[in-house]
Parts: sequence; structure tokens; C-alpha cells
Amino acid sequence: MAELTKAPLPSTSPHPPRPRSREVALVAISDLHVEACENRRFVEQLSPTHEHDWLIVCGDVGEIMADIEWALSTLARRFAKVIWAPGNHELWTYPTDPVQLRGVARYRHLVSFCRDLGIVTPEDPYPVWSGPGGPVAVAPLFTFYDYSFGMNVAPSKRESLARAYAAGVVCSDELVLHPDPYASREQWCHERLKISEERLTAMAADGLPSVLVGHFPLLAELTRPLYHPEFAQWCGTTRTADWHTRYRAKAVVYGHLHIPRSTMHDGVRFEEVSLGYPLQRRRWSTGGVLPRRILPHGDAT
Ligand SMILES: [Fe+2]
Ligand SMILES: [Fe+2]
Repeated sequence: MAELTKAPLPSTSPHPPRPRSREVALVAISDLHVEACENRRFVEQLSPTHEHDWLIVCGDVGEIMADIEWALSTLARRFAKVIWAPGNHELWTYPTDPVQLRGVARYRHLVSFCRDLGIVTPEDPYPVWSGPGGPVAVAPLFTFYDYSFGMNVAPSKRESLARAYAAGVVCSDELVLHPDPYASREQWCHERLKISEERLTAMAADGLPSVLVGHFPLLAELTRPLYHPEFAQWCGTTRTADWHTRYRAKAVVYGHLHIPRSTMHDGVRFEEVSLGYPLQRRRWSTGGVLPRRILPHGDAT
């Protein structure tokens, strides 16, 4: 089951094996969607260029638990550290998945699995990248969405949802991403924001700049290139609009849109690092390279 709205904008192709690099780096990728055979082969070949490289994986690894666990464990064996934030697809309770956990229970199961492998989750202390471009606290986030980005098409959730149904552009989350035990996904989102803000405020008090890492874009304007504007309501929350300045971000890393690109906002670099679906890459490939180097920042990887 695919999300229905992906923009006809440049996407990024899997790269051939990169030459071994002597410079250690913090690199990032998202939206691996390993249920696609081509993407699974990409993960099979994905390896660091330096033995101490860290890898950010910001969501939509897959949608069946066994696939997600295969991909994360494969990457954890190869990279010195893996930092993960959940996407909406990991949180789907897909009817054919033997693991039928829903909502918070599913998220906790994923966190527990990651911790057993040493993968950093949004529930863990933020690791400090002390390599080139550091020191920075690398903060994986689970911010989710509350339909407020839907203001781009209508003034209320009821109306933006109605418009999406009328257009035939409805995120599969409506069917298979259950918010249990919360009454709604937006309630879960607001609880997640409280948790994240407390932790980020404590991090900021330590005086370190950050790399903010999450599946969902922190700014509504990042969704403007969407081919179907109705999809924006499933992409984030307006309540994170100042996080990149408030928490002194050197970079913000995200996915979900399947529109890989780098943009600047208030002097902060935002990196969309989606691999996305094979069909999207074939249609809109510009031959970019993933995973993308986040730090040190400079020449292209
Ligand atoms: Fe995705
Ligand atoms: Fe997503």
C-alpha cells in the first residue's frame, strides 16, 4: 500500500558503491521502503565509507515488522552508530503483518528492538557527534502530525480531510495507523511534542548545537512542492515551526515527502534524504547520492 501523493520532482537514485573515504562522516537516509525488492538490494549494499561513520535513518524503513527488523539489524552491524526515528509506515498495523501491535505498543516494540541492537531512538539520550563538524547533539525526534499543515487547502481538519477524500488523495494512515491508546493521531502528536520539547530544552541548556532528525518535516513550507497539496495535512505540525532556531540546529534532517533536496531556512540547512520508491527514482532521478553527508558539511558526498 503506497502513500498516494508524491511530487513529480527530482528524486535520488541508489548509488554505486562509493570509494572508501578517509574522512569520517555523519550521513543520513530515509524512506528505505524495503518492501520494494530494488530498495532491499540497496540496503544489502549500503555500507560506510569510513569505519567510524554514523548513519541517520529517519523513518519509513518498511511496513512489515520482519522487514523493518531485517533492515535495521543489517545497518547496525555495518555502521559505528545508527540513529533511528520512526516514520508513519513503521507504525502501520498492516493486515498481513504477523505482528499486530498497534499505536504506542507498536512504537515501544520498535524502540525495544532498536535498543537491543544499540540503535539510538527518540527515547534515548542524544548522542554527541564529535567528528568533523561537531560537537553537536544528534536528536532523533518523533513529532508526528496533527493535520495543521492542512491549512494550505482548508481552514479546518474536517474541511481539509473532506477535500482530500474528494480529490482521492488520502494517506493510508487513515486506515492502518492506529493511535491507541490515544483517541486520535493529533492527540498522540501533541503528547509527542511535549516529550520532545522537554528533552530538547534540556539539551539546549547544555549549550550544544544540534542536528534535529525526524521523519516529518518541521516546516509547513517544506510541503509546498507536493504534487497533491491535500497530502500536506499528513506531514507535520505547525507547532514545530521555530524548533530549528530555538534548538540551535546546524542541520535538520527529514524524509516522508520523497522529495530529496537541500534548502535553507533562517540560515539553517534542511536535508530531505528520502530514497523513496523505485518508480519515483526512474521517473525523476537526478542522480544524487545517498546516504547524504550531513557533517562535515562542504563538498558533495
Ligand atoms: Fe516514505
Ligand atoms: Fe512517510
